[in-house]
Amino acid sequence: MLYHFNHNNMELPFAESYKMKMVEPIRKSTRAEREVWIKQAGYNLFGLKSEQVFIDLLTDSGTGAMSDRQWAAMMMGDESYAGATSYFNMKNAIREILGFEYYLPTHQGRAAENVLFSVLVKEGDVVPGNSHFDTTKGHIEFRKAKAVDCTIDEAFDTTLVHPFKGNVDEEKLENVLKTQGEKVPFIIVTVTCNSSGGQPVSVENLKMVRRLADKYGKIVVFDSARFAENAYFIKLREEGYKDKTIREIVLEMFSCADVMTMSAKKDAIVNMGGFIAMRNKELHAQASVFNIVFEGYITYGGMSGRDMNALAQGLYEGTDFEFLETRIRQVEYLGNRLMEFGIPLQQPIGGHGVFVDAKRFLCNVAKEEFQAQKLAVELYLESGVRGVEIGAILADRDPLTRENRFPALEFLRLAIPRRVYTNNHMDVVAVALKNLFDRRETIRKGFRIVHEAPIMRHFTVTLEHAD
Ligand code: F0G
Repeated sequence: MLYHFNHNNMELPFAESYKMKMVEPIRKSTRAEREVWIKQAGYNLFGLKSEQVFIDLLTDSGTGAMSDRQWAAMMMGDESYAGATSYFNMKNAIREILGFEYYLPTHQGRAAENVLFSVLVKEGDVVPGNSHFDTTKGHIEFRKAKAVDCTIDEAFDTTLVHPFKGNVDEEKLENVLKTQGEKVPFIIVTVTCNSSGGQPVSVENLKMVRRLADKYGKIVVFDSARFAENAYFIKLREEGYKDKTIREIVLEMFSCADVMTMSAKKDAIVNMGGFIAMRNKELHAQASVFNIVFEGYITYGGMSGRDMNALAQGLYEGTDFEFLETRIRQVEYLGNRLMEFGIPLQQPIGGHGVFVDAKRFLCNVAKEEFQAQKLAVELYLESGVRGVEIGAILADRDPLTRENRFPALEFLRLAIPRRVYTNNHMDVVAVALKNLFDRRETIRKGFRIVHEAPIMRHFTVTLEHAD
């Protein structure tokens, strides 16, 4: 008799596209310890020592785990003051992956903004785009110019599933260009859009921005911190892109831009670094002046040779499909677990983190008492997990009226570092939030501000209980 094989083969489950060869211990703590620590920190999670945190989801910026290849590249770093091979390694990676001919290294993303905006932004200017990241907005407002948010309305309804919630609204953008065109130095598009929840922008939308920019004779700048995650979503969601490689999509995205600023601490998986890249030689020359003043000589600009080498290698790894799939599926895993518990969050789940809708979560806390901050502090007390507020504290005061700005969305952001935590860690986060969600009705009082800085107050603000 013939032996019959069972043909009901199971599909192999998904697993990480890497294995670990170095680990770092982390420490659990008790609720009693955390109560003391968070009070000492003025109820500001930035004020905690990292040893007081068990799972750190404050940011995915500069917190990733470098690969063996990146560490190997560091050993080959050229620390020459001028003309280092590391500078040229970065130049080659930028040309090959992003398609820009000229670049300037900077120590991180906001430094790239500072240098570029020193050339392009002056008092009274208006800079439209999708939701600007806070440092971008800070550098615009610091120069007494205005950032105008032209994101599509769909982005502000967290329950609505839209594939490209980072998209720029054509009508809103054209309206700014039509009515205040002479004050617009450039249009800035953030890919993915951090402020709306790590939401991507479609190629179709980028092409629309390019068309309008050409019509009105404007430069297009991409704030590119998470450009590779944006390309991953395009591959999965935009018609006509499923068979293209991430690198092909990246080149097509950037064909719509004249300039890019980059915080390499995200998609280039380094702990520190950034750059500005551009097509125009003259702009490169103008920006070089400020780069030398603020950052360093043009072939290192605030970075050591070894860091430039790691960044160049990181650009290749960060645009690898399997890496991106592993990374974004982990974020999705956490988001799906939270949704199973009925927890309200920005949908669809973003690229670099899960954005919990604090307005719908803590509906008994007044917005004037900082709902998202309250939720972030409660999560820390419950579990030692550190997230971050993306809400009214971050939105800061209006520079003219000095009134608090209350944004349309109050988020607790849980940003996932790249290649750092396992899904077991994600389970801890999910269950901790579920426990809070189960007792959300009992949480009624938030915080009031004790002390705040005049600009970018969220880093140093101190708070006290509102009751
Ligand atoms: N642009 C975007 C979209 C960002 O998310 C960030 C930083 C920057 C620019 C500034 O870059 O930190 O290197 O100076 N975002 C971090 C975050 C801080 O937590 O989202 P940087």
